[in-house]
Amino acid sequence: MSATADPDEPLLAALRAAVGARHVLTDPDLTAPHETDWTGRFTGRARAVVRPGDTDEVAAVLRACAAAGVPVVPQGGNTGLVGGGVPGDGEVVISCTRLDALDPVDLEAAQVTVGAGATLARVQAHARAAGLAFPVDLGARDSATIGGMVATNAGGVRVLRYGAMRAQVVGIEAVTAAGRVVRRLSGLVKDNAGYDLPGLIAGSEGTLAIVTRVRLRLAPAWAQRVVALVAVDGVAAAQRVLAAVRGEVAALEAAEFMFADGVELVCSVSGTTPPFPQPAPAYLLLECADRADPTDALAGALADLPEVRDVAVATDGPGRARLWALREGHTEAINSLGVPIKLDVSLPASALPGFAERVPQVVQAIDPGARTVLFGHLGDGNLHVNVVGADASGHAIDDAVLRLTVELGGSISAEHGIGRAKLPWMALHRDTDDVAAMRAIKAALDPTGLLNPDVLFPPEA
Ligand code: FAD
Ligand code: MLT
Ligand code: ZN
Repeated sequence: MSATADPDEPLLAALRAAVGARHVLTDPDLTAPHETDWTGRFTGRARAVVRPGDTDEVAAVLRACAAAGVPVVPQGGNTGLVGGGVPGDGEVVISCTRLDALDPVDLEAAQVTVGAGATLARVQAHARAAGLAFPVDLGARDSATIGGMVATNAGGVRVLRYGAMRAQVVGIEAVTAAGRVVRRLSGLVKDNAGYDLPGLIAGSEGTLAIVTRVRLRLAPAWAQRVVALVAVDGVAAAQRVLAAVRGEVAALEAAEFMFADGVELVCSVSGTTPPFPQPAPAYLLLECADRADPTDALAGALADLPEVRDVAVATDGPGRARLWALREGHTEAINSLGVPIKLDVSLPASALPGFAERVPQVVQAIDPGARTVLFGHLGDGNLHVNVVGADASGHAIDDAVLRLTVELGGSISAEHGIGRAKLPWMALHRDTDDVAAMRAIKAALDPTGLLNPDVLFPPEA
């Protein structure tokens, strides 16, 4: 009697022919790290994880999946926080981490072309070695890839000076669902011939094309840096301090916000000493960078501000890293308490203080045992709402917080994207005609819904 044939075998054979058997993973021990997101909230099953090594292999994989009618999920470093890079039920995960080649830095243009699978930390180091800087920065730098960051239009801690990821993209190479390659890597700063496809692919969360290479703009590598941790009474006080510093110090490149409970959590999880002998209700972390030492300019801007309760300043590398650890430690410290509900929102500046006051009450009203930790990128009006100790499989808290956000004129996604996490609330924030226009673009580029079919758009009624 012959064994029952595996219905996936023809597809798996085509994938092996495309990338080599070594790079088609089906063993559950090997696929598991690709099937659950960083937070642990989103998990699914991959038919296979495929690791193409170049653009032609990406195109061949897409053609094989299209022929088999099996959708794909592009994945980079799997550090996304909205479940957009993990499979639902039986998609092929295309892991882009082998697309990691770095071209030499083009010093005249202050640009570099890198593979989509290169990590942020490698690209930063590569630019630094050439005397320039890649200015986007975020805590997941050792794992997050340039392709994933472009796909999510990642923000990070320096948006107020340099913009988010889309603003760094001079060009893109990407493969569409039909296996066709859009290649715009000339590095031309001015090139108005037709639609801005790189700009459209940036932020499309893997629903329009698979990014294979990216041409990035680079910035000066500032020789001098200063970080100040400013103790304040709350959001409104922090906003006033930020407005004063922003108005005076052109070298300002980060303005991050934290509450006392978040800083206490980070200190207790990491075993570090709190920043001041007496805790303050909230903290603003400021970083300035320039050719000449910006410390005096920052000190001058902070002097005499009544909102400033205390300041800790660091100019040396280890000192700056200690202050930054209080802010960057939030994500891991929160995850250590259990699977969090993470809602990344932005609000008009005038609504931010009221939002920060109301959110914990809104959460408490739904689940009195839940704990809310808020922090974020104050310079961008971006708060991260993290709820722990609540049922992360439910939607009541997401719903209440996102409704409050929209009621106050904000966005349901500031920098993390919609992914799977926020599908049900897309229509809260974007009206029917807006969603229809986006769906038409998706249908034109991916008519069969091959690319990340469960991301960005809720199923049509
Ligand atoms: P993945 O998680 O693998 O994928 C993310 C999305 O991009 C998915 O929809 C996926 O399908 C798609 N995708 C991935 N690669 C490609 C490709 N080559 N082509 C097309 N689509 C692709 N985000 C911020 O914006 N700001 C922050 O400050 C920030 N800090 C973070 C700190 C920590 C500790 C962690 C864990 C995450 C943080 N993030 C932050 C979220 C995350 O790092 C970013 O969303 C990042 O851009 C994801 O990159 P990735 O390579 O891990 O992508
Ligand atoms: C951050 O700003 O640290 C990130 O966006 C990650 C998070 O929201 O936890
Ligand atoms: Zn963030």
